[in-house]
Amino acid sequence: MSKKKHETPLLDELKKGPWPSFVKEIEKAAVRSETANDTLGQVEKSYRTRRGYWKHGGIVGVLGYGGGVIGRYSSLPEEFPGVKFFHTVRINQPSGWFYTTKALREICDIWDKYGSGLTNIHGSTGDLVLLGTDTESLEAIFAEYSSRGWDLGGSGSAMRTPSCCIGPARCEWANINSLEINYQLTQEFQDELHRPAFPYKFKIKTSGCAVDCVAAIARADLSIIGTWKGKIQIDQAEVQNYAKKGMNINAEIVNMCPTQCISYDGKEMKIDDAECSRCMHCIAKMTKALRPSGERGATLLMGSKAPIVVGSLLSWVIVPFIKLEPPYKELKELIRKMIEWWDENSKPRERIGEVIEIKGMRSFLEAIGVPPSPAQVKWPRKDPFIFFKDEDFEKVYKKGKY
Ligand code: HEM
Ligand code: HEM
Ligand code: SF4
Ligand code: SF4
Repeated sequence: MSKKKHETPLLDELKKGPWPSFVKEIEKAAVRSETANDTLGQVEKSYRTRRGYWKHGGIVGVLGYGGGVIGRYSSLPEEFPGVKFFHTVRINQPSGWFYTTKALREICDIWDKYGSGLTNIHGSTGDLVLLGTDTESLEAIFAEYSSRGWDLGGSGSAMRTPSCCIGPARCEWANINSLEINYQLTQEFQDELHRPAFPYKFKIKTSGCAVDCVAAIARADLSIIGTWKGKIQIDQAEVQNYAKKGMNINAEIVNMCPTQCISYDGKEMKIDDAECSRCMHCIAKMTKALRPSGERGATLLMGSKAPIVVGSLLSWVIVPFIKLEPPYKELKELIRKMIEWWDENSKPRERIGEVIEIKGMRSFLEAIGVPPSPAQVKWPRKDPFIFFKDEDFEKVYKKGKY
């Protein structure tokens, strides 16, 4: 099967230019794989006719698991038999995406045996994605990977494979051990990950700081973002060094601070820490001059999602500060309460952020046992309002104070 089966003049255009080309990569896989070969044929046809020929449908998977494999098919199986089935297998990635080359070879060798040879490292879900195999091969694939210690990731209405930034493994800005938190949550929610029982998907992403390398704030139903309580330590001599090297401190730092809490008179930099929102901008720009201090922990934010049914959302603050240390008991319990409230209050296919918008913060906060706080207001003059209940007034009357 070393010969290219299909003429692909339109795809060939995409090999020109200086960029890496997915066409070149599929051609490499096509030397050995009928599936990759017919992928080229079908995609070329799509470019010609401007129509898509991939279809969803059917439930495929492996015994004992409700997710981890996404069923895909060609709607032109006779013309392109190699892609009659084109299922995707999600492999749960290690925290922070660290692999040895040996591990990567192992993954690819197994995949070459059963699949198209095409991978997506990594999918935007976080998982290591193997693209294109048939229904028959699934059990064998699962047996080979799981016997070597790999597991499938999440798919469908389930806990999705949690993901995190590289955190303390390589990054001085990590306020929390994002890798360990991610690993512990993945273990804690194994059942929820492999047996879809939720109204819809639930994603947890953990970043060690607000630079937010996994884009938790935009992509996760629960975004865990490391932060600190103390003041930003300022090394004035280093501030001067940045100025000497040509940094326009007023334009690049002072005016870019979202809470306008930095001042600089050409000699000394001052930060009003009470106003600082811990956004990391100044620290990321002036690494040598500024660093966080004091107690470390995380802010928990909720609700982000892409626009599928209704518009996209960014996560907003639910818990302004939580200490996160093993075994993360408080965090795990909080997540279980969040999911329970969501499960009870949502319609099918509603993400938790949408349900909070519909049902309001009060019901949500009561269910998870987190007190209301001004930090939870999404933006000024936008609800959620916290309405008073009769008991609240009774407290006032009886005790003379709230
Ligand atoms: C001379 C009389 C008044 C003036 C000039 C005035 C002016 C204003 C202005 C400019 C705002 C908007 C504030 C903002 O957007 O930041 C506002 C808000 C409001 N006003 Fe008045 N107001 C007056 C009397 C009243 C009275 C008599 C009431 C109620 C009995 C009232 C109830 C409210 C309420 C509930 C809001 C919304 C507050 C919020 O949600 O932040 N106002 N008023
Ligand atoms: C059937 C009666 C009423 C209806 C349907 C109604 C409806 C509304 C709506 C849709 C808004 C805008 C809410 C928003 O932008 O989030 C609003 C705002 C407001 N209404 Fe009413 N309203 C009614 C009666 C009243 C009465 C009787 C008062 C005062 C005595 C009042 C005072 C206000 C004020 C002050 C605002 C501005 C709130 C803010 O900006 O935060 N409304 N109302
Ligand atoms: S999110 Fe922060 S802690 Fe994590 S890798 Fe990025 S900069 Fe470092
Ligand atoms: S971390 Fe962000 S909010 Fe805080 S002082 Fe620096 S730029 Fe301003």
